[in-house]
Amino acid sequence: MRRPFVRVLALAAAAAAIPLVSSATPAAADVVIGGYPAEISKSPWTVALSSRDLFGGTRAGQFCGGVVVGRSTVLTAAHCLSEAVLGAPPERIRDLKVIAGRGDLLSTAGQEIPVRSVWVNPDYDSYTNAGDFAVLTLASSLPESSVIPMAAAGDPAYQPGTEAVVYGWGDITGAGDYARSLHAARVTVMADAVCEEAYPGNTDGTYKSASMVCAGERAGGRDACQGDSGGPLVAQGKVIGLVSWGTGCGLAGSPGVYTRVSYIVRTVS
Ligand code: ARG
Repeated sequence: MRRPFVRVLALAAAAAAIPLVSSATPAAADVVIGGYPAEISKSPWTVALSSRDLFGGTRAGQFCGGVVVGRSTVLTAAHCLSEAVLGAPPERIRDLKVIAGRGDLLSTAGQEIPVRSVWVNPDYDSYTNAGDFAVLTLASSLPESSVIPMAAAGDPAYQPGTEAVVYGWGDITGAGDYARSLHAARVTVMADAVCEEAYPGNTDGTYKSASMVCAGERAGGRDACQGDSGGPLVAQGKVIGLVSWGTGCGLAGSPGVYTRVSYIVRTVS
């Protein structure tokens, strides 16, 4: 559930030093749920968004994921930068950083790069969750080898049945167990009709195929979860989605919903 998580984060923001505490999402079996530890060197485009001022230092301030799509350009979810999550407009978060090249949040590997500017999609709709993306410009560049291509409209990677992998440092049980190191889970891209049927519209959101793509397993079990938002869904060597929302985590009949990257390509170009 998206809203309780936002409330938890807002509380953490108010208390200034409390790390991500347990979410209201009920535990699901094998809920990056149903995943495996991933090596950052093999997915160098996966980054963590951090603010120790807001979220405390125990997990390096990680509160969302992101994906490197240009040497100084990172995509993340719009809702990660909402006032509900940050308690203030993003420009006011002095220590907003992107952590690159660090799988284990408690290590000193890789680099922490300050965010120079933030652009939140003005068409993001926090009620349906449509258009859930933002663009971060970094204060310094990453190597070209950290950049992953974006899948444009019509790319075969969007076809239902495509095998994809989602990456993040979020909840690995559905009970508020935030990962210390990067995890990944294999999920299958689903048909828009399946996603529309799963999410015709409730308080969690409404599936809108123009700006969303959904993925999971019919039986549930493998999914993204709270804390993974903004991170990449990758298929055929390209990023096709950003973790956005879902009802619970890894539940049968409730696939994970992602911001469709081809919508982003269309919106920003
Ligand atoms: N909104 C969550 C976040 O901020 C992501 C939830 C994804 N849920 C899912 N079942 N795929 O981290």
